[in-house]
Amino acid sequence: MKILVTGGAGYIGSHTTLALLEAGFEVVVLDNLCNSSKIALTRVEQLTTSTLTFVEGDINDRALLDNVFAEHRIGAVMHFAGLKAVGESVVQPLMYYRNNVAGTLILCEAMAAAKVFKLVFSSSATVYGETNEMPLHEQLPTGSATNPYGQSKVMVERCLSDLGAADPRWSIALLRYFNPVGAHSSGLIGENPNGRPNNLLPYISQVAAGKLEELAVYGNDYPTTDGTGVRDYIHVVDLADGHLRALQAIESSHGVAAWNLGTGVGYSVLQIIEAFEKASGCKIPYRLFPRRDGDIAECRADSSKALRELGWQSTRGLAEMMMDTWRWTRQNPTGYS
Ligand code: NAD
Ligand code: UD1
Repeated sequence: MKILVTGGAGYIGSHTTLALLEAGFEVVVLDNLCNSSKIALTRVEQLTTSTLTFVEGDINDRALLDNVFAEHRIGAVMHFAGLKAVGESVVQPLMYYRNNVAGTLILCEAMAAAKVFKLVFSSSATVYGETNEMPLHEQLPTGSATNPYGQSKVMVERCLSDLGAADPRWSIALLRYFNPVGAHSSGLIGENPNGRPNNLLPYISQVAAGKLEELAVYGNDYPTTDGTGVRDYIHVVDLADGHLRALQAIESSHGVAAWNLGTGVGYSVLQIIEAFEKASGCKIPYRLFPRRDGDIAECRADSSKALRELGWQSTRGLAEMMMDTWRWTRQNPTGYS
């Protein structure tokens, strides 16, 4: 089967494209390269014996989408394309709603016109907003995301749920990622943030590589083991595998379903620093700062639904996540450039 992967040159998309090729799927990647490099796809091809088709373009370009569907017999779409910087979304909300929400609607319209009704969507744990219940499970209410990025995920989930309810031909997986980290074990593909990273692991990696002086730890007064924020970090290769399982599930079913993709285990910022130091042999200097706006104390998945229904669970532990992150950074100190 041929899969259209939007955003396939990006961090999670490139790892999933590799997993798809390794599993014998044909892949067409559509990416406008606004936050990625074509080199990622060359590296993906280096890692397999298969080749992929790359189309440089935008999901907002309906004519281009129609051409892609006309030219290729696409069986399903994996939709990673989107903007993901929380801070930027607060400053430029319209750009986020246009790209992430309107872009997804245009993609779905083109899919329906081409009679392609199978879709795997990149959602996020951010849709749960702030809640006292932990771990987070799929039955919890969504919709209280505190920033336009998070809200764009809530909106798309809503649009896709309504679409699935209106037309039984659709089969849609909403995959709610927790905190993706790590890289392929070859060190050839990994996360390549633009400018100063916002997320913890890319920031720590750049401190270790000597590109940034020290890490700012945001908040040590949370009600957690050591006062710093706790998150459910998941290896990107496990995440990619989750997409293949979801694809399998929607092949034989109809409707819309959400699945958490996390490990269920939470680590604090200080535990992550310690684990990274151990894996890399580098000292990570850090300083404590007040809490970052919009952060929550803890975010951890109940992924039992994914295990039950998809037969998926993460297999890579913290040490492997840190070693793979470090290998990628060490081998590619300037990312793909
Ligand atoms: P990424 O920025 O590395 O990848 C996104 C890709 O989409 C990039 O290659 C970018 O060039 C492309 N893109 C963006 N807008 C596009 C458009 N209009 N048309 C075509 N291509 C476009 O991000 P990622 O970390 O790989 O995230 C992939 C998806 O997963 C995103 O939707 C993101 O919101 C979601 N997600 C990511 C995380 C995370 O922590 N990385 C967590 C939860 C959800
Ligand atoms: C952030 C986003 C979330 C998005 C996710 C994946 C915010 C508020 N949330 O999640 O919407 O889905 O990224 O892209 O931005 N930390 C530091 N110092 C740093 C960076 C982070 O101490 O320089 C801490 C944070 O306070 C947090 C933990 O590390 O406790 C993880 O942070 P991060 O990697 O940014 O992920 P999230 O905040 O969980």
